[in-house]
Amino acid sequence: MKNCKLVLFAVVFVMRAEAADIENGDDLHFENCTGCHQESVYTRDERNVRTLERLGLQVRFCKDSLELAWFDEDVDDVVEYLNQTYYHFQQ
Ligand code: HEC
Repeated sequence: MKNCKLVLFAVVFVMRAEAADIENGDDLHFENCTGCHQESVYTRDERNVRTLERLGLQVRFCKDSLELAWFDEDVDDVVEYLNQTYYHFQQ
């Protein structure tokens, strides 16, 4: 029985590690990223970001200029949040 719980924990842990956590991305974005630009910056016709790779670079660029101490996972979560909410790039 004890082992069973351990396996379940491991499975949940691995799933969390693989899938980006959109809710975390939403929270981080809301707390840190809404000061300079509103959501229209992601949806305007002449937006700069045209690929998923570029989105990652841009998120890192804005994050670094704010000197936020985010883990790579946090960056991934925010990228995933922005992609699913606004950009809709294919992987
Ligand atoms: C200090 C001000 C500032 C903050 C805070 C900020 N950004 Fe930015 N961001 C900018 C500027 C300036 C641009 C370029 C806007 C333009 O091209 O008109 C930009 C553009 C972007 C774009 C590209 C939009 C496009 O054209 O497709 C993304 C994505 C982005 N920011 C993500 C973020 C994220 C994620 C955060 C939080 C970590 C964040 N920004 C916080 C200043 C900021």
